[in-house]
Amino acid sequence: MGSSIDIRLEMLTGPRAAGGVLPSNGKAFFIETFGCQMNVHDSEKVAGVMLARGYQQVDQPHDADVVFFNTCSIREKAAQKVFSRLGLFRPGESPTKIIGVLGCVAQQEGEEIFERAPWVSLVCGSASYRKLPDLLAQVEVGNRRVMGLDLDVDETFETELTRRDNPFRAYLTIIEGCDKACTYCVVPFTRGPERSRTSASILQEVRQLVDFGYSEIQLLGQTVNSYRDPSPRGMSFAELLVAVAQVPGIRRVRFTTSHPRDFHPEIVQAIEAVPEICNHVHLPVQSGSTRVLAAMQRTYTREQYLEKIALIRAARRPISITSDIIVGFPGETDAEFEETLSLLDVAQYDGGFSFKFSLPIYTPARQMEDSVSEEEKGRRLAVLQEKQRSIQLARNEALVGQTFEVLVDGRSSRVEQWAGRTSCNRVLNFTSPSASSSGAGASLLGQYVQVKVSRAGPNSLVGERVT
Ligand code: 5AD
Ligand code: SF4
Repeated sequence: MGSSIDIRLEMLTGPRAAGGVLPSNGKAFFIETFGCQMNVHDSEKVAGVMLARGYQQVDQPHDADVVFFNTCSIREKAAQKVFSRLGLFRPGESPTKIIGVLGCVAQQEGEEIFERAPWVSLVCGSASYRKLPDLLAQVEVGNRRVMGLDLDVDETFETELTRRDNPFRAYLTIIEGCDKACTYCVVPFTRGPERSRTSASILQEVRQLVDFGYSEIQLLGQTVNSYRDPSPRGMSFAELLVAVAQVPGIRRVRFTTSHPRDFHPEIVQAIEAVPEICNHVHLPVQSGSTRVLAAMQRTYTREQYLEKIALIRAARRPISITSDIIVGFPGETDAEFEETLSLLDVAQYDGGFSFKFSLPIYTPARQMEDSVSEEEKGRRLAVLQEKQRSIQLARNEALVGQTFEVLVDGRSSRVEQWAGRTSCNRVLNFTSPSASSSGAGASLLGQYVQVKVSRAGPNSLVGERVT
């Protein structure tokens, strides 16, 4: 596929939208995405492939000729959810549709999906999206049970076709797969081994994204900071961050998810030195107990993790830190859970996600006994979330009176407010006397504006624009 298609696709949806110029085949597709930002971005790539084939994207599955589910299997219920969705498309109810299952559940369940839902005709894992045009061509001529499940280790991520949904923030994968072996996690099984993209091709895409009107880039990877430039240039992750930030036109560079083991002082130094690199690090700890961390095979102790936190907190520029935490890992005792709670006191996270452990399919955790009761997991989760909520509230309240630059990405006409994000990734809702969000006056969407914080909640800030 040529780059001219690429440019037109981006221009349909990027900030500098140029209107529809793609040929139409008169058919439509629908895609529903479950799971993480990596999946959201994968769906953008799939949408790009479909638009280039002449399909139009629609919001409702019943308007579509092709229906995709881009699935996530982090938690077992996720697979059940997909099968119940598939149940809605049984033959008889929608006989002419092509149904495809993509993503992690596709990779894990493979042929089993055809057995359980024979009306599905395409099953394709994320490492095979480059083959999607060929696979689709097979389905379009009537083949059933078409599969793309290779874990293609030579994949190069040249994403010529990406229909980015978010007009303000462009996702860009720099490393696929994962070489860690956390015992609870399916990712190494569904996304395969770690593969980094060359720095030259990343920088070229960043320049192209600037041309399309993006000024904020989010670099993606399951372990984004494990990035290793495969080209002779051999850029480190910190060097890559700086290089991306220095592309003319770039105002913000984000990155997620960082793995504590590969989180080095150079990353903090880069954030300190380069204002375009956002002052936010997502650094999942998973547990505050060294014994549980070892059982999870996280490759660091509580103390080693807290050293990284201390390094980030000591930075000259304040850096917000968020985390992921699992409660009720097999064998987690009350005392070990308390260690997670006490870690929150020290880490003082600015936000994050917490999960009850669930036994995923095909991981080493399958061998362990899911020993903490559902009820106890629920209790631990509630206690953890309440504690984190009060920490967040206190941290946000400390920002009242300060002024932040936000990139405006939403508005609410009901309450006459705009919404944006700070560099440290906080949501800041604000009023702007000169720009009504109900439609009158100039739109602020996509602009960077200064906002003074007047109130704080646990999950967001409220303020007023200052000029
Ligand atoms: N059970 C519960 N949470 C999990 N996560 C990953 N696998 C599991 C599991 N089996 C959580 C981790 C990870 C986040 C994306 O999902 O906290 O960081
Ligand atoms: Fe999963 Fe661990 Fe890899 Fe993260 S680092 S994707 S939790 S195996």
